[in-house]
Amino acid sequence: MPLVTSKEILQTALANHFAIGAFNANNMEQIQGIIEAAQEERSPVILQVSQGAIRYAGLEFAAAMVRTAASLVDVPVVLHLDHGYDFEQNVQCLRAGFTSLMYDGSKKSFDDNVAMTRKIVEIAHIAGIPVESELGRVAQSTDKLTHEQVCALMTDPQEAKRFVELTGADSLAVACGSVHAMQAQAAELDIARIKAIHEQIPGTPLVLHGSSGVKTDSFMAAIDFGISKINVATYLNQAFTRGMREALAKYPDEVDPRKFLTQSREYVKEAVREKIRLFRSANTIDASGGFRSPSKQYRSADIGAAE
Ligand code: G3H
Ligand code: ZN
Repeated sequence: MPLVTSKEILQTALANHFAIGAFNANNMEQIQGIIEAAQEERSPVILQVSQGAIRYAGLEFAAAMVRTAASLVDVPVVLHLDHGYDFEQNVQCLRAGFTSLMYDGSKKSFDDNVAMTRKIVEIAHIAGIPVESELGRVAQSTDKLTHEQVCALMTDPQEAKRFVELTGADSLAVACGSVHAMQAQAAELDIARIKAIHEQIPGTPLVLHGSSGVKTDSFMAAIDFGISKINVATYLNQAFTRGMREALAKYPDEVDPRKFLTQSREYVKEAVREKIRLFRSANTIDASGGFRSPSKQYRSADIGAAE
């Protein structure tokens, strides 16, 4: 299928209490693992590339690989810029055919964040492309913040309302207890805060960053209260690297990289499959590539909690 925009699928996810996995990729094998899992699980998927991934793979190369991957399957696929830190990167991605953008002004003042988000939203909307923005700040594990410091960076619900009104952002990344690049599932989300933000901006899909480190139980309630896009990177990198390490140990004299990368691709695929099921987006897409009739197919929050 041709790429779709994130707006098209996130609004459906928000209305039906499931979330769509946004999986980071840097190379062909990761993209293939992600896309194969989405296809087999009949789930929409967001393939996202960070500025680091763009530096590594090249903008045109990354965009072309994701476009090709999408053309080979019949589930909706989005090509998203993850953590675009400036105007230039967002415009370059718009030009390269991305179907979803992100401006991350979380280190800027509220007013500067509003001004730049607004500027990017204005230009992106002319091209029909939605924009995610971040308010509050999801820290990095390398920042080594205390629990109190993580809490101090969390998104304020009233500010979130003002931010979305002022910017016209299509989705909002919120800081609610997760931290980027954690290697163990140990973070507890502030569900009351997510609920309070959702009540202020009920029509805006909320985005969870730093999801690799989030406790499995925390996802359920977060999705019930408006988290509609869940970003996963480190968990997939762990799977990819584990595949390589195992294959290298198993075949110490092998020089053909396909031997190692095949194992990596398979592990990424299984990690993505696990997350798709956890986020309740499996089996939401019918044989024609559209969403199934909600009354019959979606697992409501109540059903999910009762299982
Ligand atoms: O933007 C990407 C994510 O927030 C990924 O975070 O590496 O902790 O899964 P993660
Ligand atoms: Zn992130």
